[in-house]
Amino acid sequence: MKDSELKHNAKKSDDTYSMAILQPLLINLPYLPFNGGALRPMCIAYILNEIIINQRKMILEFGSGLSTILMARLIKRNNLGLKIITVEHNKEWATVIDRYLKNEDLQQYVKIIQADLKEIETPLGKVNWYNYQTVLSGIENKKFDLITVDGPPANGRKIRYSRFPAFTKITEFFQEDYCLLLDDANRKGEQKIIKSFQKFHPDLHFEMISETLAVFRKTNSFNPIPIQY
Ligand SMILES: C[S@@+](CC[C@H](N)C(=O)[O-])C[C@H]1O[C@@H](n2cnc3c(N)ncnc32)[C@H](O)[C@@H]1O
Repeated sequence: MKDSELKHNAKKSDDTYSMAILQPLLINLPYLPFNGGALRPMCIAYILNEIIINQRKMILEFGSGLSTILMARLIKRNNLGLKIITVEHNKEWATVIDRYLKNEDLQQYVKIIQADLKEIETPLGKVNWYNYQTVLSGIENKKFDLITVDGPPANGRKIRYSRFPAFTKITEFFQEDYCLLLDDANRKGEQKIIKSFQKFHPDLHFEMISETLAVFRKTNSFNPIPIQY
């Protein structure tokens, strides 16, 4: 079997296993439309485990979606003292997520910042990122110990560095001990972002999870990986 096929099969089995461990947050609750736009089940399970195992308290998410709803369900179900600020560029999508949260009485755990995309300078050139002023006023000087970067969309050559500002413009809002996650880290654009961030933060622990999730940590915390062979 080719190396790429082996990797593909490994990802499939990671996701199948993770879907099973997510069941307590899925059964008897409104259906969630899992598709290619959402984080892989393995990555969602990793994040939920991280929240519990490393006792995260304040989450900043870029790119709202099923991940937001599942994190909020976890907070409610496990009675965790935790807040999420999620940043979303697409108004219609923000409304869909807000409706889910309202319907399940989860709004108290999540603040959605709807921020249109706007040109911003990065060390890799200009990109379209969430309106910086809108993000800053939504964050309200809070400090975050878990930051997930799964937006804005960066699936094309021209927009491949769109997620870079999360690594350069808001690091002053990271807590002393934090975990920073970047999805789609197998893509060329994200790999360049990772290399650039590592250059400026050589002290951080770095790990790739199931081929697609990049994880940076300030301290060597408990390992939240859902399954390891
Ligand atoms: C990679 S998605 C973020 C997905 C989200 N973190 C999740 O796990 O569900 C990036 C952007 O695509 C849009 N989006 C989110 N979920 C989507 C889905 N299931 N299908 C299509 N587009 C989605 C939103 O505008 C979002 O900000």
